[in-house]
Amino acid sequence: MKQPYYESDEGLSQYLLFHYGTEQDISSERFVPKKALSFPVQCVSTTLARLSIPSNERALDVGCAVGRSSFELARRFTQVIGVDFSQRFVTAARRLAKKGSVTIERVDQGELASRIELSVPPDIDRSRVRFTRGDAEKLPSRLGAFDVVLASNLICRLRHPSRFLDRLPALVRPDGLLVLTTPSTWKEIHTPRAHWVGGFNREGHAVRTLDGLREQLEPTFRLLRRLDLPMVIREHQRKFEYVIVEATVWRRSGGRS
Ligand SMILES: C[S@@+](CC[C@H](N)C(=O)[O-])C[C@H]1O[C@@H](n2cnc3c(N)ncnc32)[C@H](O)[C@@H]1O
Repeated sequence: MKQPYYESDEGLSQYLLFHYGTEQDISSERFVPKKALSFPVQCVSTTLARLSIPSNERALDVGCAVGRSSFELARRFTQVIGVDFSQRFVTAARRLAKKGSVTIERVDQGELASRIELSVPPDIDRSRVRFTRGDAEKLPSRLGAFDVVLASNLICRLRHPSRFLDRLPALVRPDGLLVLTTPSTWKEIHTPRAHWVGGFNREGHAVRTLDGLREQLEPTFRLLRRLDLPMVIREHQRKFEYVIVEATVWRRSGGRS
């Protein structure tokens, strides 16, 4: 049986490169738009720019993969938890937390590859971040609540996105922020059609992901901003996946008004 992508050598090295690669590492030919090269950083810095946050204590990154956005959250939060279902991704993220760098075999073409070292930016306090294996649809209540919860490109990979969305009121502190990003790649192989948050017609009206999110999250969460963020994943030297992700930022109600 084919190994799931997120547990495979290919998936691991593509995601490590996507999260930690420099412009030179990803494409020295400069055909890739610069803005698309720092997506896991933009998920934190652009989405949260100039927004007030209850405290700088705790942040959660659900579906963190190999952890770059978790480390970016550690620039602002003293305790960051990264959760992912993939054991290989969590192991790699823990290694990065411990050592600060990893070496990968980056595919150039066919069997040709180059060994490159990827690092967490040295100005980030890696001891603030802890990675754990877990299922976004069954997050334990002992996790507690957070000032910021980030779920980047996760919801359209879940079988039951609403099981995760329903947990959010308890996971985000009153006045805390929720950042969701999604390419809205709704596919039956990941999410049965009946559980899609958007991307379908209902009674003659198009329901997009943002419509579905509003239905599930409001009024407990209030939409603050919506952004388009480009990202690129390198398959090999001459092939890239380019995606325009929709990011939304929500404030949890319930604090002092
Ligand atoms: C498309 S990737 C996005 C990774 C990262 N957040 C990013 O934006 O680069 C989806 C991630 O969600 C993880 N994932 C899939 N199902 C999950 C689940 N039920 N619980 C936790 N993580 C899950 C995958 O292992 C993978 O790392």
